Amino acid sequence: MTLIRLSLTDFRNHAGVDLGAGPGLVALHGDNGAGKTNILEAISLLAPGRGLRRAPLAEMVRDGASGGFAVFAEVLAGEGLAPVALGTGIEPAHPGRRLVRINGSPAATTALGDWLAVLWLTPAMDRLFVESAGNRRRFLDRLVLALDPRHAQHGNRYEAALRARGKLLAGQPGADPQWLASLEAQLAEHGTAIDAARLSTLAALSAELAAQPGAPFARPLLTLIDAEGAPRTAPWTVDALRALFAGRRRIDAAAGRATAGPHRDDLSAIHAASGRAAARCSTGEQKAMLLSLILAHSDCVARARGARPVLLLDEVAAHLDPSRRAALYERLAGQGGQAWLTGTEAALFDAMPGPVTRYRIAGGRISAG
Ligand SMILES: Nc1ncnc2c1ncn2[C@@H]1O[C@H](COP(=O)(O)OP(=O)(O)OP(=O)(O)O)[C@@H](O)[C@H]1O
Ligand SMILES: [Mg+2]
Repeated sequence: MTLIRLSLTDFRNHAGVDLGAGPGLVALHGDNGAGKTNILEAISLLAPGRGLRRAPLAEMVRDGASGGFAVFAEVLAGEGLAPVALGTGIEPAHPGRRLVRINGSPAATTALGDWLAVLWLTPAMDRLFVESAGNRRRFLDRLVLALDPRHAQHGNRYEAALRARGKLLAGQPGADPQWLASLEAQLAEHGTAIDAARLSTLAALSAELAAQPGAPFARPLLTLIDAEGAPRTAPWTVDALRALFAGRRRIDAAAGRATAGPHRDDLSAIHAASGRAAARCSTGEQKAMLLSLILAHSDCVARARGARPVLLLDEVAAHLDPSRRAALYERLAGQGGQAWLTGTEAALFDAMPGPVTRYRIAGGRISAG
């Protein structure tokens, strides 16, 4: 998948940006605060979800702008396919509602996943393995989504049913068992789909990681675990999941939340070479594991969908020593697909092989070079 054109209107510090990009590597360089991460964030909004900062939509409107914001891209979704026009943004009349257009027609946010898969690594993710389970779960779900665009829809419906069940339990514990049962049937239907997709994604990814040479990036061993830390091996069945929710109504009502189910699962990672839990590894080791994970995942997606996800690697180059940096560029250029990289120094990208689109960003303006 390749973004051949990207344009932003009133998106964060960019009043109006219009840039073209080729397949292969795209290097964005500029000083701190120039607007590099903002460009990656705009691209991340062209996939389902809340983007790489998970920021409120209204926050993305350029300070001082009177309207909403718009992000537009022309995307080649696969070899031999005509470009598709993806657009998203908000309008001042509905600042909380994300609008999506595909080839000019209004579409659901989840439909973006049919055309574009985007994966990112940002400095904020340096703490992914040590922070709360929620962020790891969202990270895992993005990996799943890149393989299976329907994952977003299952996720939204599961969340909606979870909220409705929570409200019902809070309002009238023990009441309306039929309504509860119907919500739990929805939770079971979408929950099993989510669970199966996560397990099969992790299986494919683990096989890919095992087949790849670990060096120069560390290999993680990945498992899905439940809220108690026990490995999840067999997928949930619809009946078992429905029974789980039905059996925990009183506990969940008392806790004020659903205390068990796929929404509580977590991604566990172990540094293969040392056997240490990722959370106990050095910052550099954790970053290297994330990098090899993302690269292997790109191979999984290429195998399954016939096209690679667009990779957004924010400030990844600066944190690698020159030999690992060269290995990363070599790998990215060799595998095809498009990867956007940012850095404060143009020189970081000097050694990039293959076709490279280079942009310099300064004061919200973008120029080639
Ligand atoms: N809604 C907004 N309107 C205007 N400017 C904004 C808005 N939101 C963020 N900014 C500003 O945009 C600027 C660029 O941010 P960005 O994170 O893209 O910088 P960067 O080039 O990635 O810098 P760094 O190298 O430090 O990571 C920052 O000064 C930030 O405060
Ligand atoms: Mg940045």
